[in-house]
Amino acid sequence: MEPCIIVHGGAWDIPEDLWDSHLRGCSAAVEEGHSFLQRGASAVDAVEAAVKVMEEDPTFDAGLGSFLNADGEVEMDATIMDGDDLSFGAVAAVQHILHPISLARQVMERTQHCMLVGDGALRFARSIGVPTVPHESLLTQREFERWQEIKRRQSFEDREFFDPTRDRYSPRGTVGAVAIDSKGKIAAATSTGGTPNKMAGRVGDSSLVGCGNYADSKCAGVSATGWGEPLMKTVIARRVCHSLEDGMNVKQAGDEAIRYLEDRVKGYGGVIILDKDGNMSYSHNTPKMAIAGIGAGATIFKHI
Ligand code: GLY
Ligand code: GLY
Repeated sequence: MEPCIIVHGGAWDIPEDLWDSHLRGCSAAVEEGHSFLQRGASAVDAVEAAVKVMEEDPTFDAGLGSFLNADGEVEMDATIMDGDDLSFGAVAAVQHILHPISLARQVMERTQHCMLVGDGALRFARSIGVPTVPHESLLTQREFERWQEIKRRQSFEDREFFDPTRDRYSPRGTVGAVAIDSKGKIAAATSTGGTPNKMAGRVGDSSLVGCGNYADSKCAGVSATGWGEPLMKTVIARRVCHSLEDGMNVKQAGDEAIRYLEDRVKGYGGVIILDKDGNMSYSHNTPKMAIAGIGAGATIFKHI
């Protein structure tokens, strides 16, 4: 199997002056993940490495640069899944961690559980020596100012998150990666700071298996981005896999899922897909979605 990888950096109406930073961030991530695959590392290693690049990049709503919740704090969600045995690890509403995706992987590999949340996740991180950071080190001036503005207006509605014609400079940059390695293992990883001004303790799709993330080496891997609640209601990542199992190709399955998201629950967002034969695709109903992939022959493609 020739290794392939695809990543995304969010789906929203990314303004032109931010196209470059989004494409650069996605390209750096996909190249990092692909270099792992070329050295013989597993798909799990590759998606973790790719997502870490984007968690460190303040362009995106994940790790450094995450949105602030209603209390002015960063709370992050992440999942990683190994498609060979369907094992996954997830963390939700976790604080003080630069790389929630790596903590999610430790949950997968070092505990008997699939998901840890909040303070328990943080205590687990400390117990195994995962570095913790002060809140301020995940905070960007951009997000602090957005939070202050929301508090000034005192009228921020969830609706603004999914209406692409409003609040158009608000980044919605959940990140994700899907890879297949030379042995045919598929892995998927997704990481986010969630939505702006979310209630403390709110958990979105990104850390929920089958919603924001799914991988099955017998079928495909999927990572989603967008407005989390509709993505959860439609269990969108697993829906894509069902459609593939029913005989659709990757483009048809992605388009079907996004159509259903919009028609059934008025959701907005996007998915990236990589199937067991190395076919890659993406679908979104937002004006833009930041994507980079490296397919057969190590050719890189980018989309915004
Ligand atoms: N931060 C929400 C999203 O882009 O998915
Ligand atoms: N899609 C990420 C979130 O809503 O949290």
